[in-house]
Amino acid sequence: MKREFALKGTVTEYDSLDELAKQEQELMKIARESAERAYAPYSNFYVGAALLLKNGKIITGNNQENMAYPSGLCAERTAIFSAGARYPDEAIEIMAITAKSTNFKVDNPISPCGACRQVIAEYEFRHSNNIRILLMGEIGSVYVVSSIKELLPLVFKEKRLRG
Ligand code: THU
Repeated sequence: MKREFALKGTVTEYDSLDELAKQEQELMKIARESAERAYAPYSNFYVGAALLLKNGKIITGNNQENMAYPSGLCAERTAIFSAGARYPDEAIEIMAITAKSTNFKVDNPISPCGACRQVIAEYEFRHSNNIRILLMGEIGSVYVVSSIKELLPLVFKEKRLRG
């Protein structure tokens, strides 16, 4: 007997950042500033992420490229791992992600790569807390999801690996 089922995620799209709560607008602004500090001489694609932790702290990250291309790291993982290193017990409440390029205008929301989605998911499991994620480009609309599960259905999860 075979069965098919669809994987589904729900995204809310806002026409403008102004429609989000002030705190979320501010977090996106901080992500944008973080993108300015990215090290992206190979792609010229500057990604910034800002995390709001439960204790109110804000942690930022940006992409860090390397001459040995696969050795670089995305903005999202740089930010998440920094939060994990500095505040291991603190849940992440909101994550804002944005990008700019010196080659073209990023006019659509950018969405985290598969590896970053898996890492973000681990932090939701780790703290038993959904992370609200805000995605945008330099201009244009904003995508909001209430949890990484919306972007990564059928996530890899195996409780028995944690002993
Ligand atoms: N990048 C990120 O930092 N986050 C993403 O979600 C996708 C891509 C970075 C990796 C690389 O430095 C550059 O953007 C181009 O792929």
